[in-house]
Amino acid sequence: MNPLIIATRNPGKLEEIRLLLGPEIRLRSLADFADLPEIVEDGDTFEANAVKKACAVARHTGCPALADDSGLEVDALGGAPGVHSARFAGENATDAQNNAKLLHLLGETPEEKRTARFRCVIGITTPDGAVRTARGRCEGRILKRPRGRGGFGYDPLFLVPALKLTFAELSPGEKNRISHRGRALKAAKPLILDALALD
Ligand code: IMP
Repeated sequence: MNPLIIATRNPGKLEEIRLLLGPEIRLRSLADFADLPEIVEDGDTFEANAVKKACAVARHTGCPALADDSGLEVDALGGAPGVHSARFAGENATDAQNNAKLLHLLGETPEEKRTARFRCVIGITTPDGAVRTARGRCEGRILKRPRGRGGFGYDPLFLVPALKLTFAELSPGEKNRISHRGRALKAAKPLILDALALD
C-alpha cells in the first residue's frame, strides 16, 4: 500500500496527525519531497486551498495526499481574518502582529459580540483525481488580552467558554481533543482508509 503524503513541512503537524490516525497508516511529509514546487494558497475558501494543495501533492508524488487549511473567523469582523489568518497583518506577519491587529480592530467590542470560531478543512486526494473533504470547527470568543503560553497563532486570545480557558492554556492533548483540526482529522479518518484501500 502506498503511503499517505501529508502536505506539510511542519514536523509538529505531522506528529499530531500520526497520533490521531494511529500506527497502521504509513505517513510521509513534504520533508521527503524537496523538489515539490511551492503551492500558492490563493483560494477564497479553506476548502479550495486544502483541495488545491492535496491535488498538487498527489499529482507530484503519485501517492494519495492529505492537506489541511484552517483559520479564525470573527463574527464582529464579518468572518475575517478567515483564509487570510496567517498573513492578517501583512505578508510575513508574526503571531504577535496578527494578534495585535485583531485586538485593535475589535477595540471595545463587548464580550457577547466577540464570538469567533476556528475552522479546518481537510482535503484527501488520490492520483486519479478523486477528492474527499472533511471539516471541523471549534466555537469560542476573543478576549481583550492574551492569556496562556502554549500553542501558536491566535491561541492566547481564543477562549473556549465551556472550559473558561484559552487554547494557549490547554495541554496539546486537550487542545487536539476539541480543536477544529482534531475534529476534522477524526472525521477524515474513514475517508483516508477508504482512499488508501482504493489506491
Ligand atoms: P494553517 O492552515 O494550519 O497553516 O493555519 C493558517 C493560520 O490560521 C495560522 O497561521 C494561524 O494564524 C491560524 N490558525 C490555524 N489553526 C490555529 C490554531 O489551532 N491556533 C491558533 N491559530 C491557528
